[in-house]
Amino acid sequence: MENKKTVRIGAVGLSGRGSGMLGLLLQVEGVVVPAVCDLVPERMERGIGIVESAPECDYDVHGYLDYKEMLKNEQLDALFIATTWITHSRIACDAMKAGLNVAFEVGGAASVEECWEIVRTSRETGKFCMLLENCCYDRNEMAIYNMAKQGMFGELIHLEGGYRHDLRDEITLGRENIHGRLYNFMNRNGELYPTHQLGPISKLLNINRGNRFLTVSSFSTKSRGLNEWIRKNKGVEYDLYGTDFACGDVVTTIIKCAHGETIQLTHDCCLPRPYSRDYLVQGTKGIYEETEEGAAGRIYLDGLSQNGHRWEDFKPWRDKYEHPLWKTYEESGVKAGHGGMDFLVLSAFVESVQLGGRPPIDAYDTAAWMSVTCLSEQSIALGGAPVAVPDFTNGRWIDREEPVRRGVYCLDDICTEFFPEK
Ligand SMILES: NC(=O)c1ccc[n+]([C@@H]2O[C@H](COP(=O)([O-])OP(=O)(O)OC[C@H]3O[C@@H](n4cnc5c(N)ncnc54)[C@H](O)[C@@H]3O)[C@@H](O)[C@H]2O)c1
Repeated sequence: MENKKTVRIGAVGLSGRGSGMLGLLLQVEGVVVPAVCDLVPERMERGIGIVESAPECDYDVHGYLDYKEMLKNEQLDALFIATTWITHSRIACDAMKAGLNVAFEVGGAASVEECWEIVRTSRETGKFCMLLENCCYDRNEMAIYNMAKQGMFGELIHLEGGYRHDLRDEITLGRENIHGRLYNFMNRNGELYPTHQLGPISKLLNINRGNRFLTVSSFSTKSRGLNEWIRKNKGVEYDLYGTDFACGDVVTTIIKCAHGETIQLTHDCCLPRPYSRDYLVQGTKGIYEETEEGAAGRIYLDGLSQNGHRWEDFKPWRDKYEHPLWKTYEESGVKAGHGGMDFLVLSAFVESVQLGGRPPIDAYDTAAWMSVTCLSEQSIALGGAPVAVPDFTNGRWIDREEPVRRGVYCLDDICTEFFPEK
């Protein structure tokens, strides 16, 4: 078997997510992590320990509290960033300017200017900036993409998704656990975490390659869930009780696309409820809808569904239309991390570093998907008025100079030629 090129990747941000992803990153063939960084010394030390305990580690690992020192001192090919939402792109832009390709964890943008900076820095430096949207590589999402590409849903009309996750303890205990969400919920009212479903939806709708987001309209409810959780779990003496949390408990956003599709997103992290990403894909020939977590979901296809106007289990359809990447992955052994998708998104990042560029989620995608957060804040402040989404491609969504890079991790087509028939 051909050996993959060795690439040197630094890691910044080593809390729960960063340290979990670091362990997986070290399992991707050809990856060396010579340097790790976190503002918190124990987390930086833990990061060193994770790298040193990897079976293939026969090199020194350097720890940093300041990522700028790390960029100055280390010879790295790329940077993996899992810091807080509002710090990802600052670190990413510094890293691109230092000559590194970058990937960062999901979150939304604080300003439109931040999104432009990602795009301009990537273009000016020739380095890529990839949002690590793992849900693009989820098994269900990939099977649906495969079916959609084969025309099974007809022309796509309306799509929905959400981040509906009871994070009341994680948000509220942000100071005790040194976790970044709290101050965002205290200060910002918007769709704070848009990309888990917007990523797969954007790839279905060819956003930035023939289509684009035109406007964002958002509405927010009042905020009650976090204070209620505090009252019940910490008591009214707890200093955060009675805080006027800016973020509404449920934020609903509608994005209108250039070719007439609508996307509805729901952000819902402050009330008791089961986890859901609420995926829904509706076209002229049928509809898919997510059901409970871990299940395949349900489907109805015009003329093909046997049961009158009733849903069918998606599982047999998923078996039939499994994405070739998932077929291969199942044969080779699915890794841990949100049902396997985390390892795939990291593998896609590493392959792009090894091949020198053009990741499946690029700076234009990163900017457009993240921009929904700050645009939704503006829309809510304007009573739900539609807010224009900038064209971060400056017209290139119509005539991209670079074709899609085809390969096993491609999210812009099904590249069957990379999956030889057995
Ligand atoms: N894709 C997924 O499924 C998934 C799951 C969980 C979290 N996430 C995302 O991963 C990111 C990290 O999540 P988390 O829960 O670990 O967050 P966290 O707030 O617990 O940790 C962030 C870490 O970054 C460090 N940090 C912040 N600024 C820094 C800087 N300038 N230099 C060095 N270190 C810095 C902090 O000290 C902290 O240890 C977030 O964007 C989150 O949304 C993604």
